[in-house]
Amino acid sequence: MDVHAQPAGAREYILGIETSCDETAAAIVAGGRIVRSSIVESQIATHAPFGGVVPEIAGRSHVRSIVPVIERAFAAAELRWEDVAAIAVTTRPGLIGSLLVGLTAAKAFAWAKLKPLVAIDHIEAHVHAATMERETSPYPCVALVVSGGHTALYRCRSPLELELVGCTMDDAAGEAFDKVAQILGLGYPGGPAIAKLALAGDPARFAFPRYRAKVRDPFHATSESPRPLVSFSFSGLKTSVLYQVRGQDARSLPRSPEDIPARADIAASFQEAVVDVLVDAALACAREFQAATVLVSGGVACNQRLREKMTAACKAAGLEAWFPSPAYCTDNAAMIAGLGWHAWRAGMTCALDLDASPRRG
Ligand code: KG4
Ligand code: ZN
Repeated sequence: MDVHAQPAGAREYILGIETSCDETAAAIVAGGRIVRSSIVESQIATHAPFGGVVPEIAGRSHVRSIVPVIERAFAAAELRWEDVAAIAVTTRPGLIGSLLVGLTAAKAFAWAKLKPLVAIDHIEAHVHAATMERETSPYPCVALVVSGGHTALYRCRSPLELELVGCTMDDAAGEAFDKVAQILGLGYPGGPAIAKLALAGDPARFAFPRYRAKVRDPFHATSESPRPLVSFSFSGLKTSVLYQVRGQDARSLPRSPEDIPARADIAASFQEAVVDVLVDAALACAREFQAATVLVSGGVACNQRLREKMTAACKAAGLEAWFPSPAYCTDNAAMIAGLGWHAWRAGMTCALDLDASPRRG
């Protein structure tokens, strides 16, 4: 990509560091969107035998990987520390033991290399990821972030002005995929496994419940957000799948996962229900705020059925749906460095007593 074709400031390189969950990632990005390198070391294989992320194992893996991953980011970008204007690091939300590894590394390098430090919210960075591969600006717009840990809807005025308008009351969308995959005897992470099995299934075979989010319903306030405009719920859907597989008392266990009757149809019908809920909520939110663009990101944004149905529904409503390419849907540090550039340009640098938090800001 031609860095020189960018406006003033575009050649300012930001090092991004991401360790909020089970990916150790570092990236160097210019001007908020030109990715010079993006290294992601996934721990999926390490956690797979446990059926989910084990926080202590994640933290220890980050400790081993963080410095080599940062070195690889510099080598792949063919850049040196002198070229970097600032260090952006994820400080929230996430597993605290994991966040602290990335934050401590970022602080150590900021101090040793005399670089400013910028704190980045992981979910807001997911939103930014959906804009990085585009030439135009989508603002004002709405954004749906659907990942293993989060399901959130934002009203966005700029990369740094995001208002949370929707969140889940129970499971995150990706978590629902992972738990249903476990019920169906599929591996971890569940999203890709369910999507693959669903290709051979009938999405209309089972009418699993769709929790219809009501825009502006005051009863759906949660502790995380006092009065979200939209709320999601996936636990009833998950329980329905459980009853379908194990009977109404949820006790009968098939001898092997392959023996689950209509397994592909269950996967396809479950996926369809999640997708319908997400598409409905995003469109209701876009209508409410008269937004022309819906950004969709996070690991679940890799889902092909979601991409198809969201794109078609947006088109029918005269809107555009923007998805990042799959590598920027899942956790990565390019989105941290990308949003970090905007924060750095806005003067949002932090002192070395900067702390991390497991919660959203
Ligand atoms: O954004 P991400 O990498 O990590 C978090 O911040 O949580 O998202 C991981 C989640 C997992 O729950 C995984 O099952 C889900 O994204 N996922 C998918 C697909 N690919 C990954 N869900 C549905 N369909 C997919 N193709
Ligand atoms: Zn994420």
